[in-house]
Amino acid sequence: MSGLKSIKKPAVKRTQLFINNEWVNAVGGKTFESINPATEDVICSVQEGGKADVDLAVSAARLAMKRNSPWRTMAPAERGLLLMKMADIIERDIEYIASLEVVDNGKPFTSAVGDIRAGIKCLTYYGGYCDKIEGKTLAMENGKMGYTRYEPVGVVGAITPWNFPFMLSCFKLAHVLGAGNSIVLKPPEQTPLTSLLLGDIAIEAGIPAGVINIITGFGPTAGAAISEHPDINKVTFTGSTEVGHLIQKASGDTNLKRVTLELGGKSALIVGKSADLSMVVPLAQDACYVNMGQTCCALTRTYVHEDIYDEFVKQSAELAKKTRAKVGDPFADDIRYGPQVDKIQFEKILDFIDSGKKEGAKLECGGGRLTEKGYFVEPTVFSNVKDDMRIAKEEIFGPVQQIMKFSNIEEAIDRANDSEYGLAAAVFTNDLSEALYVSNSLESGQVWVNSFMSGGANTPFGGYKKSGIGREFGWDGLLPYMEIKTVVIKM
Ligand code: NAI
Ligand code: MG
Repeated sequence: MSGLKSIKKPAVKRTQLFINNEWVNAVGGKTFESINPATEDVICSVQEGGKADVDLAVSAARLAMKRNSPWRTMAPAERGLLLMKMADIIERDIEYIASLEVVDNGKPFTSAVGDIRAGIKCLTYYGGYCDKIEGKTLAMENGKMGYTRYEPVGVVGAITPWNFPFMLSCFKLAHVLGAGNSIVLKPPEQTPLTSLLLGDIAIEAGIPAGVINIITGFGPTAGAAISEHPDINKVTFTGSTEVGHLIQKASGDTNLKRVTLELGGKSALIVGKSADLSMVVPLAQDACYVNMGQTCCALTRTYVHEDIYDEFVKQSAELAKKTRAKVGDPFADDIRYGPQVDKIQFEKILDFIDSGKKEGAKLECGGGRLTEKGYFVEPTVFSNVKDDMRIAKEEIFGPVQQIMKFSNIEEAIDRANDSEYGLAAAVFTNDLSEALYVSNSLESGQVWVNSFMSGGANTPFGGYKKSGIGREFGWDGLLPYMEIKTVVIKM
């Protein structure tokens, strides 16, 4: 255990919009409610930003990017220190931030702490990069000198989802500010509370006014105002593939703003016949149920070799039945999974389970609501799943495992690749050649061998196909937040 203590009823400190280092109400005077998904109680009302508020935030962010501004003239190492200071403040306040995340999102306290620590690491990582962003001296004939400079792309709009609210806001900030840009951040409407805390953290760290702006509100209004804005240079988005299409289109219809999209997935796991069941059964299930299944890179299509299939299914069902005891009050000790984020997601998952039954998959266990209050779903296992069933093709975003049988590895690879998504994939095997062959053959932005989500701030992450455009993390993740300028001098 972390030794950290949760706060059962954390005070809500901020519900206003954060523009130019000031807290303000929305121009339109509207608010919306944030709900605790474990109890279905209203936590508080939050300002509902719209186009007019986004305009104000963009003006502030634009001013912060002007060539002689404090942010633009700051030494890169100083910029890095500011990011690290933010990281330190977050670590200091982690019990409070994690507790507020639990109330707003429903994830267990220990998971919230883990997420926030990942955010801290990303801020620190890109803080360390600031004074190491170096261009090249170019090969030229005598009498000429050429070099490249990496320059910030400008004002970046960042739109984030509710599954890892604080962590993803930190990830976006770290990339955007690490490359020297300013940001207009729109947190998710389901879980806006922790991202707002970044406003106070920015002020305390000493971030100049206008560099960070936070507009809470809904997607089709505040979100669309960002993706359509003529004076935003780039949008970075994490969320559904459906909205990813809209953002890409809005860019094309307006100013061709640069776009980084981290979208949905239906990630395949291939379990080879040499795999050690005592290791892979729990790992495969957690890789599917992680964050209550609300994880873009969850391994949701489980392909198991026919030699071990029956035993794998049996042990997975037994494990899921035991896991029921690990689903519950996210503040309680020994709880691994909380409720789904809201009623919409909860009902969508139950509808998927229904479709699985109707289309002929075998429900091994679970499949229903767990409690009367709160959006808790039973840990669910389907076997005998066929590739053309809805549960095998679409993103369920819930604790529902789909197990399929395969006979040979070529077939497994073809079936794994037969998806419109390509965010992540994994292979569990004790056969080294199989591990390498499968890893190289999968159409996926990342592949994990005998592990799951085993990366960090330095490992590029992103999707093939409809799982996204661009990468986050590492040097490759920083590049899309910069323009490359070439300067040639004739002597
Ligand atoms: P969503 O993609 O609608 O929402 C994500 C963010 O985009 C939110 O901040 C939202 O306000 C914003 N948004 C929505 N419509 C927009 C628009 N027209 N223009 C600009 N921004 C807009 O995702 P939602 O509705 O919360 O979940 C639907 C499904 O999407 C989930 O069931 C899941 O399958 C998938 N999803 C995937 C995520 C991932 O990590 N890749 C995260 C959240 C959802
Ligand atoms: Mg939506």
